[in-house]
Amino acid sequence: MNNLQKVDDWLRSSKKTVVLTGAGMSTESGVPDFRSASGWWTKTDLQKVATVDALEFNYPLFHEFYSMRIRLLEKCAPHEGHHILAKWEKDGILHRIATQNVDGFHFQAGSKCVDELHGSIYTFRCHSCGQSASKESFLAKERCGHCQGYLRPNVVLFGEMLPEKAWQNALSNIQSADLVIVIGTSLEVYPVNQLPMMTKGKKVYINKEIASHASYFDCILEGKAKEVLIKLDELLSTNK
Ligand code: NAD
Ligand code: APR
Repeated sequence: MNNLQKVDDWLRSSKKTVVLTGAGMSTESGVPDFRSASGWWTKTDLQKVATVDALEFNYPLFHEFYSMRIRLLEKCAPHEGHHILAKWEKDGILHRIATQNVDGFHFQAGSKCVDELHGSIYTFRCHSCGQSASKESFLAKERCGHCQGYLRPNVVLFGEMLPEKAWQNALSNIQSADLVIVIGTSLEVYPVNQLPMMTKGKKVYINKEIASHASYFDCILEGKAKEVLIKLDELLSTNK
């Protein structure tokens, strides 16, 4: 039995399947990831754009980086892989998605049970007083109407705490899952990279490049997220 058939079997027999996704889930939608050859962090120093210090002491660069990502996302859409995960949720095959992605593609593809561990790039707030703000105000580089503070997207910056509810949801769902499928993440970033080890269930890693630390997975499917998900979905449909 090959690995695809093995995962197909596990998907069918699993009572609670949870998927954990990273930026590699969206590269086939045209959105760069972070640590691959063409990733954001190969062109931009994350310390200069994705930290609280960057926001507070170099707002123009911070603003330019997130404005550029917002503009790019306006031209991108979920791919077939996102839609397959949404179908699996509807068919009762997939219980929940925990994602590090801020692009909202799982929701846009129709998934409802999604925890956004690193927030969302589509909502905004004042960094000082927390008052919510609009995308238009952020893009226009306006200051907070309430306290004149800097506006920012609701993404988790390095060193910031993850949204507590999303984190607790993901942690408890993964702990109680009997199958965890990790898709398109280098597992470089704490604390999300600790999640796969928290499950007692089977662990599957679907990734374009297989990192050394992937040895603790029960099954590794090396390849592109969309392509692998299409193959898995075909197997699920044929052996129904
Ligand atoms: P780091 O040492 O900067 O971060 C580790 C920190 O993660 C820990 O010290 C802990 O305080 C913090 N943390 C955040 N939420 C937590 C939670 N719910 N439970 C326990 N600890 C939590 O390591 P790093 O790999 O350089 O950065 C990881 C940090 O970056 C995390 O805080 C993460 O939330 C954040 N992050 C930022 C981005 C981004 O795009 N800027 C994306 C993902 C994660
Ligand atoms: N299919 C499968 N895997 C892919 C694909 C694809 N089409 N494209 C890229 N990959 C793989 C890459 O080989 C890489 O191992 O996905 C992984 C993406 O890893 P990162 O770029 O590190 O992205 P991610 O793991 O999501 O980063 C975690 O770091 O800076 C923060 O905000 C950022 O939330 C992100 C966090």
